[in-house]
Amino acid sequence: MDFAGKEKSEYVKDTFNSIAGKYDLMNTLMSLGMDKYWRRKVVKIAQAKPGMTMLDVCCGTGMLTGELARAVAPSGEVTGVDFSEEMLNKAQENLNDSPIKENIKLLPGNALRLPFKDNSFDGVTVGWGLRNLPDLHQGIREMQRVVKPGCMVVSIDMGKTFVPVFKQLYWLYFKRVVPLLGRIWAARRIEYHYLYESASEFKSQTELVRIFQECGLDNCNYLNLACGAVAIVYGQKKQRRSVNNLST
Ligand SMILES: C[S@@+](CC[C@H](N)C(=O)[O-])C[C@H]1O[C@@H](n2cnc3c(N)ncnc32)[C@H](O)[C@@H]1O
Repeated sequence: MDFAGKEKSEYVKDTFNSIAGKYDLMNTLMSLGMDKYWRRKVVKIAQAKPGMTMLDVCCGTGMLTGELARAVAPSGEVTGVDFSEEMLNKAQENLNDSPIKENIKLLPGNALRLPFKDNSFDGVTVGWGLRNLPDLHQGIREMQRVVKPGCMVVSIDMGKTFVPVFKQLYWLYFKRVVPLLGRIWAARRIEYHYLYESASEFKSQTELVRIFQECGLDNCNYLNLACGAVAIVYGQKKQRRSVNNLST
């Protein structure tokens, strides 16, 4: 992929800084309004419950962060981390009038070097974030590191659909219509073309399950949404072995 002579991270950061203002509207248009329902599925698979402490990596404008916060309220807390200042500003703006804002902390940070201790969270999510990382394994290992043993790491991202006709229509929509929508509503055709390119070059859901396993996660699997055009991939951090087990 061409990053206009920049490092991938720098290109991605600039791209999201430039589209932050219209990101939510474009998301709703691109997903035909399905994104809210998909995020609720992620929250369910992450097993977020009242009182828990969750992390949302690459939180962007805070949409998934907000869904998690609703699930852990009234006493739980969700931390959203992102490296784009403009996406975080938008997240703050989105949450300002929300009753769950007290349950949310937004922090600048890099997904490849999460600023948290090992075993800090009851669940970690990432929404449409992994395909933007220059080192996918490192990003997943970081999520695996900061989640508590037995808890879930969950990603939602574009998947690979193999349903005939739908597959062709889907890629046509993503390659031609999405950048056009980006040009009309956000005046950003090139940035929305990046979304198509990053999705088409991203791993399939079965490949991502294998990478989750390589990164040390257990019970890994995926759930297809929209005929596999979108997929939730998840895994569980291994339980620590007890001293008794070690001695046998
Ligand atoms: C497609 S947006 C997804 C936003 C949000 N999770 C959602 O569900 O709509 C991807 C986000 O990942 C962030 N991002 C990409 N690479 C990152 C990195 N290395 N560290 C932190 N954030 C990153 C971008 O700034 C952007 O906000």
